Amino acid sequence: MSLLIKNVRIIDYKTDMCCDLYIEKDQIKDIGNLSYKADEIIDGSDKVLMPSFVDTHVHFRDPGFLYKETLETGSRAALCGGYTSVNLMGNTNPIVDSPGVYEDIICRGKNLNLIDIHSVYAVTKGFDGHTLDHLNDLPESVRFLSDDGKGILSNYTMFHAMNKAKELGVGIMVHAEDPNLSPLDYRIAEDIITLRDIYLAEQTGARLHMSHVSTVDSIDAVRHGKIKGANVTCEVTPHHLSLWDVNYRVNPPIRTKKDVKAVIRGIQDGTVDCIATDHAPHSQEDKAKGAPGMVGLETAFAVCYTNLVKTGRIGLKKLSKLMSKNPADILGIDHGAIEVEKKADLVLVDIEKEYTINKNELMSKSNNTPFDGAKVYGRVEITIYKGEVKYRR
Ligand code: DOR
Ligand code: ZN
Repeated sequence: MSLLIKNVRIIDYKTDMCCDLYIEKDQIKDIGNLSYKADEIIDGSDKVLMPSFVDTHVHFRDPGFLYKETLETGSRAALCGGYTSVNLMGNTNPIVDSPGVYEDIICRGKNLNLIDIHSVYAVTKGFDGHTLDHLNDLPESVRFLSDDGKGILSNYTMFHAMNKAKELGVGIMVHAEDPNLSPLDYRIAEDIITLRDIYLAEQTGARLHMSHVSTVDSIDAVRHGKIKGANVTCEVTPHHLSLWDVNYRVNPPIRTKKDVKAVIRGIQDGTVDCIATDHAPHSQEDKAKGAPGMVGLETAFAVCYTNLVKTGRIGLKKLSKLMSKNPADILGIDHGAIEVEKKADLVLVDIEKEYTINKNELMSKSNNTPFDGAKVYGRVEITIYKGEVKYRR
């Protein structure tokens, strides 16, 4: 299989140029002014070709909640949004806290052959907030531990978890929330755990990744942690950088305009390493009962492009860094640059035409999104995984 993409604007974190790109099998073979005989020729004029996107934080609900999403429907939603690598969270049923559950997800993900599927492993057994014994039997490919959806309240447990993670050579993805404080003050609930965990990371030398950072003070805490030399990175979501004072249940909640400004400042000054969707599919019934979360894979690029690049806050190269290069680096994947001999995982986007997000057109099994009806720029036209067109609008 070979593909020739003609007259396209190629953008990655360090390149912005117009030319042709030739793909053979699963690899980028040539870039320049080209005239290969290919199985398919794609006209790239007026379009932008970027490294496909990488998401450090998604929920595919498989196993256990297949009525919300499955590995397959989630992967198709990812492709539709321009993603070819995702990192799954472990709040499934059963929870991802045993080699059997973990290997089953990774194995079924591989067999689907749609995108690359990675997964975290629970910090505490069954998310009980205390037990770390299961970490003695950690599968080799695990890169990050996380109790996402819940978080770890006990200082004692987190201290030991960080030491254990360091010893094992893995990182911890932190869902920063004190559940006792949440009903009283959702802001303090996030900030107090963020401050604690960055402090503990400084003390233990553990590798931390702060998930869905959403407040002024948590962004500040990450900024200062980095200055002090903590081994910490962080992600923000498309919704926390674009919405404020909106009544849509998600955890952490939609914050205020001041927080959104701080998140964007964090993006601009490099405090924020990557954008992650926290793709959290729920059925209409579960949403009606108060389940927090929204689907995000299919709207992320457009929401970020429209709010960050179209407004002049950052350039498209920087957005590519936030959605491909940096999240790939965090997950330990060689991806994010469009260069000869790199794997052909690419996305072709149209940044010229405005369109309206329609929740009924999503590929995900769920359509819980506050962006329904939003007018945006940045539509994914084609997603290429290992040199094959896996999604075409
Ligand atoms: O809004 C959220 N939904 N936040 C989380 O931390 C968990 C997630 C979910 O699993 O639904
Ligand atoms: Zn979370």
